[in-house]
Amino acid sequence: MMSLLLDEVALAALRLADAGVESPRTDAELIAASVHNVRRGELHTVRDCDFDARFWAEIARRAAREPLQHITGTAHFRYLELDVGPGVFVPRPETEVMTGWAIDRLGKMDVAEPVVVDLGTGSGAIALAIGQEVPRARVHAVEADPLARAWAERNVTRYVETAPYTAGRVILHAGDFADALGDLDGTVDLVISNPPYIPVGAYVEPEAGEYDPPAALWSGTDGLDAIRTVQRAARRLLRPGGLVAVEHGAQQGAAVYWVFPEEQGWRDTRNNKDLAGRDRFVTAVWPGEGA
Ligand SMILES: C[S@@+](CC[C@H](N)C(=O)[O-])C[C@H]1O[C@@H](n2cnc3c(N)ncnc32)[C@H](O)[C@@H]1O
Repeated sequence: MMSLLLDEVALAALRLADAGVESPRTDAELIAASVHNVRRGELHTVRDCDFDARFWAEIARRAAREPLQHITGTAHFRYLELDVGPGVFVPRPETEVMTGWAIDRLGKMDVAEPVVVDLGTGSGAIALAIGQEVPRARVHAVEADPLARAWAERNVTRYVETAPYTAGRVILHAGDFADALGDLDGTVDLVISNPPYIPVGAYVEPEAGEYDPPAALWSGTDGLDAIRTVQRAARRLLRPGGLVAVEHGAQQGAAVYWVFPEEQGWRDTRNNKDLAGRDRFVTAVWPGEGA
């Protein structure tokens, strides 16, 4: 016999589909799982519907296009479970691919304790994933927005509690890309950033436009202002032979390539794709000033 809860999940999925939610069935199941404190694959075992009112209240929030992760309070990023909510950017799957590139390159680097800088860490997603998957790295995570930084602090604490050996390896800093971490100039092995990159006035889905912090989205008329600042910060921070990886919008590959040109000293500038095959991040090597 199908559980009553699964009947309700099916109805909720219809309601979310009507509201224009992209993955209505998945979201209805994940909300039900979070309400009943079970895994999604265990929903069929739930028999009591005592949580109905809460379930339908949360479905109503999702139908109003509040992000799923704000409702459940959790975002999954690579092997991490992160706390998220109002005031912080919800980490996206496309950023997992760029982070995977960085983890792969750090793994091949012949450096005992690579120094990494994550510019605009938000929830701490990139920095913590690198800390978890490359435990010998020391990761400096920079964030200007105090609200976002509070979420990152919470996630660093949560992460260190589950993996005490990582204490002190992911270090949060308040600051701006432009002049952050001057004491590390010329010494960093890898700079990574998912900066804001949406042109002011462009359309974004309500989940982003109404719930992600504006400082995480908008970046000048062509969307490239923050990427240009990251470029300048990377050439200041990187040691000769250091690497940079910067995320951008799917239509910005060609433009971002020219933010890291050979004429300005960069080498091996490449456009890289996300899992959907769209241009998503640029990578380059900094050979050093005058090389
Ligand atoms: C798109 S979000 C990315 C957050 C996180 N790295 C991720 O991938 O989920 C960009 C972040 O950069 C921060 N930010 C924007 N401009 C900044 C600046 N000039 N200096 C420092 N942080 C900045 C924003 O507050 C926001 O948290």
